[in-house]
Amino acid sequence: MSFTRITGTGSALPGRCVTNEQLAADLATRDIETSDAWIGERTGIRQRYLAGPGETTSTLAVAAARKALEAAGREPGDIDLIVLATSTPDMIFPSTACLVQAELGIKGGPAFDIQAVCSGFVYGLATADALIRTGMYQRALVIGAETFSRILDWNDRTTCVLFGDGAGAVVLEASETPGVRATKLHADGSYSKILCTAGSVNSGVVTGDPFLRMEGQAVFKLAVTVLEQNARELLSASGLTAEQLDWTIPHQANIRILQATSKRLGLPMDKLVVTVDRHGNTSAASVPLALDEAVRDGRIKPGHNVLLQGVGGGFTWGGAIVTF
Ligand code: ACO
Repeated sequence: MSFTRITGTGSALPGRCVTNEQLAADLATRDIETSDAWIGERTGIRQRYLAGPGETTSTLAVAAARKALEAAGREPGDIDLIVLATSTPDMIFPSTACLVQAELGIKGGPAFDIQAVCSGFVYGLATADALIRTGMYQRALVIGAETFSRILDWNDRTTCVLFGDGAGAVVLEASETPGVRATKLHADGSYSKILCTAGSVNSGVVTGDPFLRMEGQAVFKLAVTVLEQNARELLSASGLTAEQLDWTIPHQANIRILQATSKRLGLPMDKLVVTVDRHGNTSAASVPLALDEAVRDGRIKPGHNVLLQGVGGGFTWGGAIVTF
């Protein structure tokens, strides 16, 4: 068997939903001015889910993974590889993938985290696809899970209104038919400073800035450029035309980035899966969260060709074209 297929999807959101109005009212108590109108017009975001006590990256990941397993008709014991994308792990180590493995009662196969910020899920999918196609493993859980609310500076209105928490997961299995038709990953570390959480822990002390910082306009311009390039190289590698794509699921950072990319590719907006309005930017979780929504509500049907794309800190970007 030389292909892989996604056989189940799942997702999980924290219990607390915070609307733009609620966030603006909360920030106003600290003399920070923002509004539903500003956030909505600039980003398309109307609300986000924020983790509360007891909700961590691993608990959200486990909840999403259980739903993906159920959808695939698989038991945890069927899984022999776990790849988890996150930039907000529960701990420095062990990896969040190992925590998820233990919670699901899985033993023996490899479990590891991938850190590629908002591109993390497509990095994980491409990695698991390659490992399964070599014949080393049969069935993987690929998870994107984040609690970005932990690394936001709630006094910085230019970033704190943009992000949310959540997790999405897929079961990826060896298959005789594709499946994952093409994957392409990229990074350019020379852009590391335009989007970063630069702080670290050294000898028990937090050194540097522990909060997410972003040069929004620089990120916006780069994101639109690389998403278009990546979509074109994936179409070429898969042998499909843009017209043969049934759905596109880019990283959900900003509705204007999604619209600009679709326009450049000549794709109609009604082929775009949009969750940024309800989830905000959930980094590595955004693509699998949107994918699960579109699979469960019946938009993505068997045989559909779907473009999945991530872009984010690093700078990293990449994607996959997958037939369901
Ligand atoms: N409420 C009200 N006003 C605000 C807010 C806010 N929350 N935030 C900024 N402003 C103000 C600014 O201070 C500025 O005021 P000024 O003109 O008086 O100086 C004005 O609004 C415009 O600010 P800009 O930064 O120019 O706004 P822009 O239109 O660029 O929108 C945004 C900012 C939404 C961040 C946009 O640049 C963007 O979406 N960038 C891309 C983000 C992204 O794609 N990230 C993906 C990767 S994420 C990851 O990897 C973790």
